[in-house]
Amino acid sequence: MMKPAVAFVLLCSLLAISSTAEEFDFFYLVQQWPGSFCDTWSGCCFPDTGKPAADFGIHGLWPNYAKCHSLHDDEGLAAGEHVGDVNAFFHSTSVGRRHGKNNKKKCWPEYCDDGNAALSPWEIRDLVASMETSWPTLSCKSSQSIEFWSYEWKKHGTCSNLGKHDYFARALALKAAYNLTAILAAAGIVPSATDTYSLSDVSNAIAKGTGFTANLECNRDADGEDQLFQVYQCVDRDGAQLIDCPVPMPTKCHGDQVKLPLF
Ligand SMILES: *[C@@H]1O[C@H](CO)[C@@H](O)[C@H](O)[C@H]1NC(C)=O
Repeated sequence: MMKPAVAFVLLCSLLAISSTAEEFDFFYLVQQWPGSFCDTWSGCCFPDTGKPAADFGIHGLWPNYAKCHSLHDDEGLAAGEHVGDVNAFFHSTSVGRRHGKNNKKKCWPEYCDDGNAALSPWEIRDLVASMETSWPTLSCKSSQSIEFWSYEWKKHGTCSNLGKHDYFARALALKAAYNLTAILAAAGIVPSATDTYSLSDVSNAIAKGTGFTANLECNRDADGEDQLFQVYQCVDRDGAQLIDCPVPMPTKCHGDQVKLPLF
């Protein structure tokens, strides 16, 4: 029989743990096509490890709500979109991105645990080689990918309910399980300076190749043409399994035809 005081302390610590667990509904595993990152008006820089392969690279693993929350009350608003966050690390001039706010809505948690925020390479030393291949920075702010990973950890990872090592290991494992470049190539969607592809073909190829629906995002090349920029695959709260994306997202594409530029 436990002494009441001990039981009380235990209960308090359990409550403390559960109240710090972040509530979110799913993760987005966001991968970017390097050709589409680099050919915009703002360009890119290669990491100090050299030019990355012409392959999708991880941008991040982002906890997300299925319904955006109003910042003024608890009423959920429609549409769980994850607009805005894209490349805040790379292009810090982007507006409307602070605190996950978008038109007074909070659509994802961010910067959850300042005390746990510093990332040292030592903590993920066995992953660094894979990270350099699969999660390279293309930012001109820093050619050190660790700066990019550290930013992603602080902003998103601290809200994931995962430890640092697990957070990065799970993102890497998910990426390795589904090679988007190969999945698109199998459907005839290959990098090209001139060809365009329909968004629905891209979307269907990913659904067929992975078994799950994903959301897509375009950006524009220096000539203003739509191109496939990022693929948002949806992942369960454990960061372990893909799921069908529970909510749609604005694609930012103007039309149905997109490029997949060479890199
Ligand atoms: C993914 O597939 C592409 C195209 O087949 C290949 O070039 C690339 O090396 C693969 N990536 C990984 C990480 O295996």
